[in-house]
Amino acid sequence: GSAVLIDTYGRVATDLRVSLTDRCNLRCTYCMPEEGLSWLAKPELLTDDETVRLVRIAVTLLGVTEVRFTGGEPLLRPGLVDIVARCSALRADGGVRPRLSLTSNGIGLARTADALKAAGLDRVNVSLDTLRPDVFAALTRRRRHQDVLDGLAAARAAGLEPVKVNTVLMPGLNEDEAPDLLAWAVEYGYELRFIEQMPLDAQHGWRRERMITAGDILTSLRTRFVLTPEPGPERGSAPAERWLVDGGPARVGVIGSVTRPFCAACDRTRLTADGQVRTCLFATEETDLRGALRAGAGDDEIAELWRRAMRGKKAGSGLDDPAFLQPRRPMSAIGG
Ligand code: GTP
Ligand code: 5AD
Ligand code: SF4
Repeated sequence: GSAVLIDTYGRVATDLRVSLTDRCNLRCTYCMPEEGLSWLAKPELLTDDETVRLVRIAVTLLGVTEVRFTGGEPLLRPGLVDIVARCSALRADGGVRPRLSLTSNGIGLARTADALKAAGLDRVNVSLDTLRPDVFAALTRRRRHQDVLDGLAAARAAGLEPVKVNTVLMPGLNEDEAPDLLAWAVEYGYELRFIEQMPLDAQHGWRRERMITAGDILTSLRTRFVLTPEPGPERGSAPAERWLVDGGPARVGVIGSVTRPFCAACDRTRLTADGQVRTCLFATEETDLRGALRAGAGDDEIAELWRRAMRGKKAGSGLDDPAFLQPRRPMSAIGG
């Protein structure tokens, strides 16, 4: 078969998202309940060696060029720095090193940013929904606002750039904050992206009519800024549509996963912390690589399982289908 991860719609997955843990030290209301979830048990998790082996197969046999580490909160994974270092040493055909990035809530990043940079991490995306400590506490159920700000500053100082900030706007909490957040991000040199809330929360509380849409966000930002579409190449496989702020060079992104999906250009494949391939955030089926790994499968066999999994990738999220069903695994266990 072909050497790459290609689906039946002709999309090629070159971007691998690896969830390193389903645990988190925040409790964002749009993600999980106050009491947390029933976490994966240690024996279910891929070991560091197993994780690196699957990333190696993806990079050396399957054409993956970008690897993003996610969670839950990936900084909670004890072996993170070591995993990054070992992935950074991988080389595809032609000696090319994979690009490595991290999506984090920022807590603990102040302590680890330098080590991550030294290990070969290229850049980070940090979630921050508000500039107000009290709103942060209401949204995340934890008083850790300053830790996130410190983490962001440390990431920038360590050169993990561009530092992107992900923001979800929630009605009645931070919905009025978009212009303030953008002014702040421009001042500090972070690239801000607003994300439409998706039906991936563990509590199944998402309602389309309560979601703040990409259109709402742009309207709100335009009360204070002039936004012009970023010139240059098409949006391509990037989830964010980007706009120049007041003529640039500052930019802002809007990830309209619900109202402006980018599924047709999707270049992603995903690995859960317990070693399952997911072809999509919204996939209802998974392919068990951990089982194959632990049964003694060789690299080529695992690569072939992964290729076969991707041939089952659906055209889109199915969000507009009246029969849409939320996947069983919540966002925190898929890895964003
Ligand atoms: P870069 O653009 O490469 O920096 O990363 P990213 O935006 O893909 O990664 P990040 O982990 O920061 O994800 C930001 C948001 O994009 C996530 O919260 C998701 O809401 C959304 N997202 C990521 N992957 C997908 C996907 O495959 N489908 C959809 N619909 N949304 C996604
Ligand atoms: N919809 C949209 N974004 C979400 N995130 C977590 N849950 C959801 C959801 N249901 C965001 C986090 C983080 C990013 C990886 O995903 O806030 O910024
Ligand atoms: Fe943790 Fe991210 Fe979920 Fe918030 S959205 S609880 S930071 S996994």
